[in-house]
Amino acid sequence: MSTFTLDSGTSRATPSPVPGKRMTAPAIRARKDGGTTAQPIVMLTAYTMRMAQLLDPHCEILLVGDSLGQVIYGLPSTVPVSMEMMCAHGAAVVRGSWHSLVAVDMPFGSYEASPEQAFASAARIMKESGCAAVKLEGGEAMAPTIAFLSQRGIPVIGHVGLTPQAVNQLGGYGARGKSEAEAKKIVGDARAVAEAGAFCIVAEGVMEGIADELAAAVSVPVIGIGASARCDGQVLVTEDMLGLFERTPRFVKRYDDLASRIAGAVETYAGEVRSRSFPTSDQTYRPKGG
Ligand code: KIV
Repeated sequence: MSTFTLDSGTSRATPSPVPGKRMTAPAIRARKDGGTTAQPIVMLTAYTMRMAQLLDPHCEILLVGDSLGQVIYGLPSTVPVSMEMMCAHGAAVVRGSWHSLVAVDMPFGSYEASPEQAFASAARIMKESGCAAVKLEGGEAMAPTIAFLSQRGIPVIGHVGLTPQAVNQLGGYGARGKSEAEAKKIVGDARAVAEAGAFCIVAEGVMEGIADELAAAVSVPVIGIGASARCDGQVLVTEDMLGLFERTPRFVKRYDDLASRIAGAVETYAGEVRSRSFPTSDQTYRPKGG
């Protein structure tokens, strides 16, 4: 379908000169063998075609996270994110990538009511975006849904610990698992999600010891975000790790300071426009020989 392919004649995109075979859910699952992962899994969020192109050669999984609600749309949480947003951004990321497995978040309200509702939503996301997996939040309560999807051709990534779609119930975005009961529940959630058929699990915002325990307790790869270095892989929101925001969670490491660099470039541009030093003859169309 043309939605999934890049028209190199009309697009600004530069597709890989050597399109490779995409990562698959079974290949990701197989990274963890006998409880250990020799090569940690690299996952980052992507919401746009160009960012996908830049990240793709370095990652195994590109996650079209519902964090796009806050990062792209300036929403107060992920709760208002719609199916239309996820499908449109999912398709853009698929068009901008050729190597990574693209997984798209199921938005709040699109899967919790029943396994049948989840199947209809996941199928729509896969058909409209071309992605190869979906991610949904929740532990034991979502296990029957994960089993239903996994048995019907839909690879699922689980998400336990801090589940941002439940912010109104949790009362905030603080780390989870501070009490013994909560820690036990998170490990139980990860076990249930893995047993239901998730091919990997995101563990977000959990105390280090719990992350270590759950990574050891489940046979599928556990990808940490604010979890522990012992997880089988790591994920971050790309805009956070590139330094596009002033405020980021404690677990984010900033690998650049793009906000300052963009501000500097735009200030220079604005100054040159106002002083009429841009454009120069290099950026101006003139008749040949004129
Ligand atoms: O929505 C998102 O970006 C996520 C990651 C933070 C794991 O779920």
